[in-house]
Formats: sequence, structure tokens, C-alpha cells
Amino acid sequence: MSISEITEKIQALKAERNAVILAHNYQLGEVQDIADFAGDSLELSRKAAETDAAVIVFCGVHFMAETAKILSPEKTVLIPDPHAGCPMADMINAEQLREFKSQHPGLPVVAYVNTSAEVKAESDICCTSANAVRIVESLDADTILFVPDKSLGSYVASKTNKKVITYCGFCPTHHRILSQDVVRAKRAHPEAIVIAHPECTPDVVALADVVESTSGMIRFVKSSDAREFIVCTERGILHRLKLDSPDKQFYNPSPLNICPNMKKITLEKVLWSLQDMQYEITLPQDMIEKARAAIEGMIAV
Ligand code: 13P
Ligand code: SF4
Repeated sequence: MSISEITEKIQALKAERNAVILAHNYQLGEVQDIADFAGDSLELSRKAAETDAAVIVFCGVHFMAETAKILSPEKTVLIPDPHAGCPMADMINAEQLREFKSQHPGLPVVAYVNTSAEVKAESDICCTSANAVRIVESLDADTILFVPDKSLGSYVASKTNKKVITYCGFCPTHHRILSQDVVRAKRAHPEAIVIAHPECTPDVVALADVVESTSGMIRFVKSSDAREFIVCTERGILHRLKLDSPDKQFYNPSPLNICPNMKKITLEKVLWSLQDMQYEITLPQDMIEKARAAIEGMIAV
């Protein structure tokens, strides 16, 4: 089947099922193109909470689809490949979080949205890369626990006067971008602005002119007068950057900045997902309620 035939079938089934397709900015270009909305984690969780569709097909990784289910428990939430997980989110489970809390009693826990529902349920409030500093600032405590990303945690610590105790998780995809790669790219393109995701290592972040969430990067590039950008994040974002700014140049600092889990979702799998109504995200009701309080706390801030 050609891409246009698959797209046609997806559109017909989407109408029949009263479904909405949400896609993260790291998805394959053709998946972003058939989505009703593509965005960063914060925008996608807002869309999931707002939609009046009966079915949400979530093109992203597992924790993102879980977040959609938590915010819209009455809706059917499908992920086209149930094996699209996030290795960073899998670096901490509820038991490990309880152990971390017991080492630092009484401190509030900020959970990056890249966590499982059971970890969110054990946390006080969630954050995304777009609002992490604001969330930490909003808490009435001088010291906070931050899980699981040590890179985002250390970026947040550099932007606030609060003490941030971080867990030891990290994103393998972002950590494959090395500071040497960025230095080499800067040497080759001295006019280029370096934009980085805060999941990058602190030495890469230190070389960046701008540190933003994925949609923050897209907005920055669109409104910038600069013509060239070195893009330190997962390469799926280049699809949207090039669509929005075809006259600008984008440089990939590393050949290794691919998240294999994000790439597990293909156009065919989106079609099969709608055909077979698979794979449905289900969560226990009490976990939904506890995790929802942490996510809604974030949305309120
Ligand atoms: P954003 O929220 O910035 O889109 O990032 C999500 C993510 O998984 C980054 O690796
Ligand atoms: Fe997880 Fe990193 Fe992939 Fe984002 S890019 S989904 S944090 S592994």
C-alpha cells in the first residue's frame, strides 16, 4: 500500500471511530503529518485532556499514552506499538521511588512526566521540560527531590536557588550527543545558534545558546532571525523545523541522536491500531486518581 492509500484509510477509520491522533515531535515525519496535533509532552497532555473524541491514538512512547489515559480515563487510549517504551522512564519504579523518598524524608517529589503512572502516583507534582523550572519554583520547600532525569534536574538546579536532589536516570538518546560533537559542529558552522534539549548532558547544555523543550525549540527557530541552527535533540524534530522554516539550515551534531522507541510507531501500525482498536492503555482506578493529582497540579501551575 502506498503512503497515500494508508493515509486515506486512516482518515476514514478515524472518522468512523471518532478518534483523534496525537503525535510527539520525535515521531517519523509521515506519522506527524497524519496527526491531528503534533507537539511536546506538555502540549500533548493538554490536548488529551481537552479533546471530545471517543478514542485517542497516541503516537509516542508508553508513558505519554498513559498520561493521556490518566487525564481522559473515560476515553479509549490506544498506542500503535505497545513496546514503544522510554528507557529513562523505566529507570525508576514505585518501589525505587519509595526507597529514594525514605532516604530524604519529608521532601516533596517532582516527577518528570517521563515516568510510569505508578511513579506519578507516588509523586507530589509532575513537570515537563517546558515547565520544570516553574514547577520547582512554585513549591513551598527549599529542597526538592527530582526524578528520574539527572540532566533535567541539574539544569533546573542551575536556574533556581532551591536545592534539587536528583535521581540517577538519564535519556540514552540525548546522552549519545557528546560535547565534542557540538564543538565540531560549531567549528564547521560558526554562525549557527546551538539549541539543546535539557535532557542533554550538562556539558552539552553549557555549549547551548538556547535550552528548550521540543516545541520551545520549534517556536524559537520560527521566530529567530538567525539562518543556521545546530540542533541537540532527537532528530525527529528536524521534520517540523524544516517544514516551518524551509529557508533555514539545520545541522545534526551526532549520527546517534535517534530514539529507537519513538521510531517504533509507523503509519501501518497507526492504521492497524484503528482497525483492531489496539493496543489499549488500561490502568487501575486508584492509580489513575493519584497520578492525576500530580499531573493536574502541574497543569494548574
Ligand atoms: P518534550 O516534552 O520536550 O517534547 O520532550 C519529551 C521527551 O521525551 C524528550 O526526550
Ligand atoms: Fe525517552 Fe529519551 Fe526517547 Fe524521550 S528521547 S522517549 S526521554 S528515550
